[in-house]
Amino acid sequence: SQDPLVVFTPSGKRGRFPAGTPVLTAARQLGVDLDSVCGGRGICSKCQVAPAYGQFSKHGVTVEQDALSEWNKVEERYDQKRGLKAGRRLSCQATIQRDVVIDVPPESQVHRQVVRKAAAVRAIEMDPATRLYYIEVQEPDMHEPTGDLERVARALKAQWGVEDISTEFSTLALLQPILRKGDWKITVALHKPDDHARARLVTAWPGLHETGIFGLAIDLGSTTVAAHLTNLDTGEVVASSGIMNPQIRFGEDLMSRVSYSMMNEGGAAEMTAAVREAIDTLTEEIAAEAGIETGQILEAVFVCNPVMHHLLLGIDPVELGQAPFALATSSSLHLRSVEMGLTALPGSAQIYVLPCIAGHVGADAAAVALAEEPGKSDDLVLVVDVGTNAEILLGDRDRVLACSSPTGPAFEGAQISSGQRAAPGAIDAIRIDPETKECKFRIIGSKFWSDEPGFAKAAERLGITGICGSGIIEAVAEMRMAGILDPSGLIGSAEQVGTPRCVAEGRTHEYLIHDGTAHGGPRITVTQGDIRAIQLAKSALYAGARLLMDERGVDKVDRVVLAGAFGAHISPKHAMVLGMIPDVLLEKVTSAGNAAGTGARIALCNRAARREIERVVGEITKVETAIEPRFQEHFVAANAIPHATDPFPELSQ
Ligand code: FES
Repeated sequence: SQDPLVVFTPSGKRGRFPAGTPVLTAARQLGVDLDSVCGGRGICSKCQVAPAYGQFSKHGVTVEQDALSEWNKVEERYDQKRGLKAGRRLSCQATIQRDVVIDVPPESQVHRQVVRKAAAVRAIEMDPATRLYYIEVQEPDMHEPTGDLERVARALKAQWGVEDISTEFSTLALLQPILRKGDWKITVALHKPDDHARARLVTAWPGLHETGIFGLAIDLGSTTVAAHLTNLDTGEVVASSGIMNPQIRFGEDLMSRVSYSMMNEGGAAEMTAAVREAIDTLTEEIAAEAGIETGQILEAVFVCNPVMHHLLLGIDPVELGQAPFALATSSSLHLRSVEMGLTALPGSAQIYVLPCIAGHVGADAAAVALAEEPGKSDDLVLVVDVGTNAEILLGDRDRVLACSSPTGPAFEGAQISSGQRAAPGAIDAIRIDPETKECKFRIIGSKFWSDEPGFAKAAERLGITGICGSGIIEAVAEMRMAGILDPSGLIGSAEQVGTPRCVAEGRTHEYLIHDGTAHGGPRITVTQGDIRAIQLAKSALYAGARLLMDERGVDKVDRVVLAGAFGAHISPKHAMVLGMIPDVLLEKVTSAGNAAGTGARIALCNRAARREIERVVGEITKVETAIEPRFQEHFVAANAIPHATDPFPELSQ
């Protein structure tokens, strides 16, 4: 009679194997995506499968309960110690007896799909560069004078088929005590940037390392540094955190930092040291928040604009301050954390920096392109990543254009009188009643509006601390809709508007949002100066978008994706009332959160995505705003709210 038939789901891969073949062996031979860290020793439990019983007409198979061997000792021991979920088997232990259908659950797949929040874009497929391998190493012997490392390499070859490894110098010093502590059984982390590359031994642990390995996706912005700590096995983001970029003390925007470097001997080095220190602090904080050791963070991916890119790498950004804005390099970079002078990460942690597009259009724009994929869009999409420097992409399958626009830090809450970074306690949403001109607001960390009963408790817990970027955008748009602001951006007086909330402040007026009496916290107002800062920022953003539309020869786009700095979810309606983005059907505007951060996460989790973006950046046409006279014209016209001349027909609907 024939050998038993094995069908794996969800892949549908099938084949016949002699009775007694371990399920994992069959899976390997058929090329089924099934994980294993311990190499079939029954201790890692990564290889779990769920055999299915019953009749499978689709596969032409009837499966009986005894299609697989009974539990063996190893599985029993594992189940007693850790517990196997009902219906699960360790595929390295269970052997095939009769025809069988075996499901590989997502958590046992190496290349599992990680669903992203924004459903419009594809899931991330896991294929990280760093993976774990459990090995049993031969003990040293007087008669065989090989080094410990050589025996580790031999074990990797024999037990995993890994041909050739290179080793971090710093790891070499750790290896001997780890081998002895683990009684010659260790887990090593190997980094392989692509299939053909030589594997690099990054670090090792005694015994089976079970607490996971992690990577950091870092969006290094001019004002905010945002990091997502990601489990390299599951793709799950285990903690997200952000801090202010300490380089702000050298200059609020990029050009002032470039001039700081020009005017001050050693200025660039000072800024490099400051930002690296901040990344170290952020690394420690985020690891503590997730309850892991920094030693478990083995990779980091950076995305940033060109000036931040140079300062991070310790390169003087002086060339970026003047035409032709030459980058030291636009290619992607692979290096180790020790070379980057980062101390919180292990020295051998592998760093990947995304490629830059050109002059002023950096790796952050490349990351946005990776996350939002405008080049795969059937309709013409405008992607706007709002920050101190806005990254703007316009394109479809035919062609993608990109520019960067110096909006200044107002959208991130800086340069705003009551402004702050998006963090718990910051006001992020505001509504103003057009009749009474009274307002209510919400703070980050609470779902209640300030006039709802649940708010008091939230305010007590979080405190009301200031307004973040998305809050100030809503405030200005709501003020305009309620008639508190005229189209030129001037705040009316109490008599003109008809509310005591408009308070005289010198020769101008301010609108009172929170006086600090109810629920405590500081007095929070929107001043005339705040309005002017937001007008400058939104004009720069709009002008950048219009410049790309001119270049492409269109006066309308099909849809808009609004991405923002860490934590900020900009309301499409308010962005349009303000005139931040060109007129488009409101339902065609989507909010994407931190797209640059997501792009960094994709590059962290998937090696092929790195190759893809390295190719895509070469196909993007960059448009230089700094030398384009039309940028200035668009900028001036966009100062009014929503705009002096461009029509906004969708808005009046
Ligand atoms: Fe590790 Fe089966 S491969 S338990």
